[in-house]
Formats: sequence, structure tokens, C-alpha cells
Amino acid sequence: MTSDLLSLTKPDDWHLHLRDGEALRTTVPHTARAFSRAIVMPNLQPPVTTVAEALAYRERILSCVPPANKFQPLMTLYLTDTLSRDEIDKASAVDAVVAVKYYPAGATTNAENGVTDISRVYPVLERMAELGLPLLVHGEVTDDRVDIFDREQQFIDSVLTKLLSRYPTLRLVFEHITTSHAVEFVLHQPDNVAATITVHHLLYNRNDLLAGGVRPHFYCLPVLKRDSHQRALAKAAVSGNPKFFLGTDSAPHGRTTKETDCGCAGIYSAPAAIELYAEVFESHGALDKLEGFASFHGADYYGLPRNSSKITLRRNGWQMPAEFGFADDVVIPIRAGNSIVWQLEKL
Ligand code: NCD
Ligand code: ZN
Repeated sequence: MTSDLLSLTKPDDWHLHLRDGEALRTTVPHTARAFSRAIVMPNLQPPVTTVAEALAYRERILSCVPPANKFQPLMTLYLTDTLSRDEIDKASAVDAVVAVKYYPAGATTNAENGVTDISRVYPVLERMAELGLPLLVHGEVTDDRVDIFDREQQFIDSVLTKLLSRYPTLRLVFEHITTSHAVEFVLHQPDNVAATITVHHLLYNRNDLLAGGVRPHFYCLPVLKRDSHQRALAKAAVSGNPKFFLGTDSAPHGRTTKETDCGCAGIYSAPAAIELYAEVFESHGALDKLEGFASFHGADYYGLPRNSSKITLRRNGWQMPAEFGFADDVVIPIRAGNSIVWQLEKL
């Protein structure tokens, strides 16, 4: 029997883009309404590369948290070829900074300053492995000759395998995995290796992006894959395996930068993220596995306490607005203008 009420320990979002400035007035309340904590990505322009910058960014985020919400942003540093071991030591000493984000140079939005060659950051990775500071990996090669649908698999073969054999104890989160190859890879690694799975990669595949017309609001990186990969991700997410946890990769872009000749990558899922994860888990008959995925596995991996408060979702269809104000533009959310099954009860 399915119930119309779902109570779960308040979830956390282990991979989130909030942007900066005026945009925070839109993005922070959308995440804070449902999530207790979120790991905030550092790909601002310029990127967040020092602990001081991360702490200042954290204050700007906190100033946009609605008074009714308790929300804790967990900050990250952006790994560049020149990040120092000293900065790693500083980050490791500060509770508000929890990880370092690795973008291969040019892989995605604001990744121009990313790592050009993994060997350049070996000294930093060695220090991170010693200190137990997690590396959060955007796992795609950027070689123009590699087909965009194969970039994650290639990254596993040409970078990740070598990286982990060099630093087997490095704590590493393979972010927003999109393929059965990534699922298999993570399953075969020890406990220090985990993965986040977005709600859009669970809900959609590349037909949603490309069949019957190109839909820019389904364009994200890593790009949506074929349905067999979508099924493999769902199987991993609902399996109850603590290696897999919630990371929305909610990544807002103004409408004018999405609906254009060369549109930005990113899907804005924060306004209905936990509701849509519930929809996915229910469709796999696994609502009982949602709490582990959304509220326990990530906290356990990061060595943080599980949240003690609860949220309630009610089966009460509602309509996602067509758009939200976003600085001097608007942002089109996931499911814009369409219905969502589960509704978050107000606090
Ligand atoms: C992200 C963004 O817009 O910052 N875009 C995306 O499609 N996921 C960057 C990223 O995480 O790749
Ligand atoms: Zn991301």
C-alpha cells in the first residue's frame, strides 16, 4: 500500500551551484526550504580558490537564508594548477570548508581555470590524501576528439583509475555520475570512493533533450545519456548502497544564456529537488530507500552528524511556476509549468 504522507530525516544536497550576488536571493531560499546543508560548488567567476574567499562567499549565502530556515552551506575550494599545499592545510583546519573540487580545464561552465594536467596537482592530492580532505571530481575528459557521450567513460579509463592507484586512500566523490560504467567503477572501489547522482539523470535521458526538438533546459554536463544508463543510475540510487547519495547539481542559468545560439549547461532543479527524487524512488517501488540516499549516506561519508529534524512530503499535486526571477533575468526551472506529485509541507 502506498501512503500519501512521507516523513523523512531532513536531507542534504551534496553538490549544488548557488551562483553569487543577486542570484543568491533566488537560489538560496529554494535549497534552504528543503535541505539542511549543501556542498556549494566554487565555480564562480573568478573561482573560489582560497579559504578566505570561501568564507566570504559563505557569508553572502547566509545573508540570503530566510529566517524560518536553518541552512548550513558547506564550502569547497576550486582546484587549479597552482593551488598550494598550504591552502589545503588551511582548508582542512576550517569546519566550514569540506572539500576541493576538481574540474578538468574547460570541462564545463566556468571551468577555464581547472586543472590542465592531473600530474600538476599531485603534491596537493598527496596532502589531501594525508589529511582525509575529499576531492570532488567532475569526471569527463575534455579532448575534442572524444565523443561527448563517451567522455565520462574515457575519464574513468584514462584519469580516475590511475589517480586512485597512485593515491588509493584519497577520499574521492565521483560527482553527478551518468553512466553504467561509472556505477560499476564506484561499486568496485573501497569505501573512500563514493558518488552523487542528480535527480535529472534519474528522471531523463537524451531523448528528452533531443527527440522531437532540441530542449535547451535539458542540457547539462555531463550530458544526459541513453536510457540504459538512466536505468543503471536508478538501480544504484535505490539499492541502499551507502556509496551513492544525493547531489542535485542544480545549476541555474538565466533564460537568455540558455535559449541562445550557444547555450549554457545546467538544469535548475532546486525548486523541486527532493519532491522529484521522491517521484523517482516511488516509480521504482523504493520509497523506503529514499531516506538513506537523501539524508544518511552523504553525512556518513563526510563524517558529519545526520540531521535530527524531519521534513514531510505530501502527495498533493502542484504546478511548478514557469520561471523565477534571477538577478536581471529569469531562470526556467525543471518541470516548468508542469505538475509535480509530491509537495513539501511548509515548516
Ligand atoms: C554546472 C554549472 O552550470 O555550473 N553545469 C552543469 O551542467 N552541471 C557545472 C557543472 O557542474 O558541470
Ligand atoms: Zn556541478
